[in-house]
Amino acid sequence: MPASLPDNPDWWRSAVLYQVYVRSFADSDGDGIGDLRGLLGRLDHLAWLGVDALWLSPVMPSPNADWGYDVADYFAVLDEYGTLDDLDEVIASAGRVGIRVLLDLVPNHTSDRHAWFVEARSSVEADRRHWYVWADPGSDGSAPNNWVGSFGGPAWTLDPASGQYFLHNFLPEQPDLNWWHDGVRGAFDDILRFWWDRGVAGFRIDVCNMMIKDAELRDNPPATEDDPFIMQMFGQRPVYNGNRPEAHDILRRWRTIADGYTPPRVLLGETNVDTLENLATYYGSGADELHMGFNFPFIEAPFDAAALSEIVARTEALLPPGAWPVWTGSNHDVSRLATRWCEGDPRKVRLALLMLLTLRGTPVLYQGDEIGLTDRAFDKDELLDPVGVRFWPHYPGRDPERTPMPWDDGPNAGFTAAGVTPWLPMADAPMNVADQRADPDSVLHLVRDAIALRRRSPDLLGGEYTPDPVDDGLWVWRRGGTLVALNLSAQPREIGVGGTPPKTVALSSHRVSEGPVVEGTVDLDAWEGVVVTSRA
Ligand code: GLC
Repeated sequence: MPASLPDNPDWWRSAVLYQVYVRSFADSDGDGIGDLRGLLGRLDHLAWLGVDALWLSPVMPSPNADWGYDVADYFAVLDEYGTLDDLDEVIASAGRVGIRVLLDLVPNHTSDRHAWFVEARSSVEADRRHWYVWADPGSDGSAPNNWVGSFGGPAWTLDPASGQYFLHNFLPEQPDLNWWHDGVRGAFDDILRFWWDRGVAGFRIDVCNMMIKDAELRDNPPATEDDPFIMQMFGQRPVYNGNRPEAHDILRRWRTIADGYTPPRVLLGETNVDTLENLATYYGSGADELHMGFNFPFIEAPFDAAALSEIVARTEALLPPGAWPVWTGSNHDVSRLATRWCEGDPRKVRLALLMLLTLRGTPVLYQGDEIGLTDRAFDKDELLDPVGVRFWPHYPGRDPERTPMPWDDGPNAGFTAAGVTPWLPMADAPMNVADQRADPDSVLHLVRDAIALRRRSPDLLGGEYTPDPVDDGLWVWRRGGTLVALNLSAQPREIGVGGTPPKTVALSSHRVSEGPVVEGTVDLDAWEGVVVTSRA
C-alpha cells in the first residue's frame, strides 16, 4: 500500500468508491481505447472530486469475448491498457493523492484461451482437466442437465474431442472453474497475494455467488409465476448452478488472507442475488466474509420513495451486526441511473446522487455519474456486447452504459485524439466534465460538495439511519443530528425541521435553498433534496 495512505483498517466504511471502466475512461495513445496512462492523466479529476478509492473493471489480458470478464492470465495487464509497470504507477500516483485502487477479480470462469483451459481441454487425463466442470452427455447425447447460462442458451458446450460437455454459466468462451478442486483454490490464493502484495487495496469479486455449483449437478427446478422476470424468462430457478452454501467457505478463506494485510484488503462482492435475505448471508458473521456486497434489489428498484426506502430499511435490518451497506445506481451492466431512474431529468439526477451520498453505507459511483451522464441509444450494427447482439431488439445489452467518458467539448469529447474512432461511439448527451467544472451550479459541483460535506460530517459518515414513514413521495431520514429530506415527487412540499438548535440547509440538490433555516421549515421544490444540519 503506498506509504501516503493511512493504515486505518476501516477506511472503506467512510469512503466514496468510483468505478473506472478503463476501456472507456481516457485514451492516452490514440487507439480509441482507454488505458492506464489515460487514467493516470485524469487522476486530478478524481482527486478534485474527492473520491477515496477506485474499482478498475478488469485490466488483465483477455480476448475480450466478454470485454475483460474472460481472463486469459491473472498475473498481467492487457497490452491495450498498458503494462504492469503502468498499473504500479497508477497505484502509487493515486496513493499520493489519497486514492486507493481495487481491481476486478473474475474467479467464476476463465477465458477459453487461458492456459489452464487449453491444458484441461487437451485430454481427459490432463493434470488440470478437473479445474473445470466436465460431465458426460445424457444417454441421448444431450447436455448433462437443464442449466441455462446467464446470457441465455444452454450452460453446456460439447467438446467433440473428448465427448464430454464443459460448463459455462456465461459465454461458451468463459468456461466455469471447478471450485471443488483444491488446485483452483490454491491458484486463486496466489492470485490474491500477487496483487495485494503490490499494494492493490482489494477486489471487486465478479459473480461471487455463483462460483461453486452443486456437486451432483442436479437439474434446476422450474420457475414459478412468483419468481422474478429473469427467472421466468429462463424458465428455471438458479438453485443448483450457483448460490450454493459452499460459496461462503471460499469467501471466508479469502477474508482470512485479506485480514493478514495491513491495512486489511477489502472484498467487495458482486452479489447479484434475488433477495436481501440472501444478500445478507454474503456478509457472514459481519466480519468473516465480504466487507461489502452490492445491493441489486436496490439497483433494480424503481426511483420511488416507498420502494427505495423499504429496501434500505430492510437492508439495514437484515445485515448482521457490524456489516456495512453499499449503495450504487449505475455500473457497466445496467442502464445508467440518469437514464434508468431519472429519464434524463436533471432534477431527479441530482436527487438520486444526493441519496447515494447520504445514506448510511459506502456509495459506489460509476464513471460519468458525477456529470449525470445518460445512456446512448445503439443501433444493432453498432453493438459490441455479445448479450446485446443475442437479445436485440428486446434488450440492447450493455453498450448503452459503456460509452466513453466525455471530458470536454473538443473532438471525441477529449476521450481520444481527433480523427480517431473510439472503440464505442461517444454518448450523444451534451454534458462533459470541463463545462461542468466551470459551472458551480452543475451536477459535478453538487457531487463534489456532497462528498466534501460527507467527509467532514461524523453524522453522515457513521450516524445511524433513522427514517420517518414515507409520505406521498417524501422520504425523510436522520443520521444522528443531521436530517436528509428527499422529495421524490412533482409536488412542492414544506417540511418542519425544528428551530432549536438553529438549523441550516447545508446542501440542496437544486442549490437554491442553502443557508440558515427560517422559522423551522424548509420548502422543497419538486424533485429536490436537502441535507439539514444544526448551525455551528
Ligand atoms: C459480471 C460482470 C459482467 C460480466 C459477467 C460475466 O456480471 O459484471 O460484465 O459479463 O459477470 O463475467
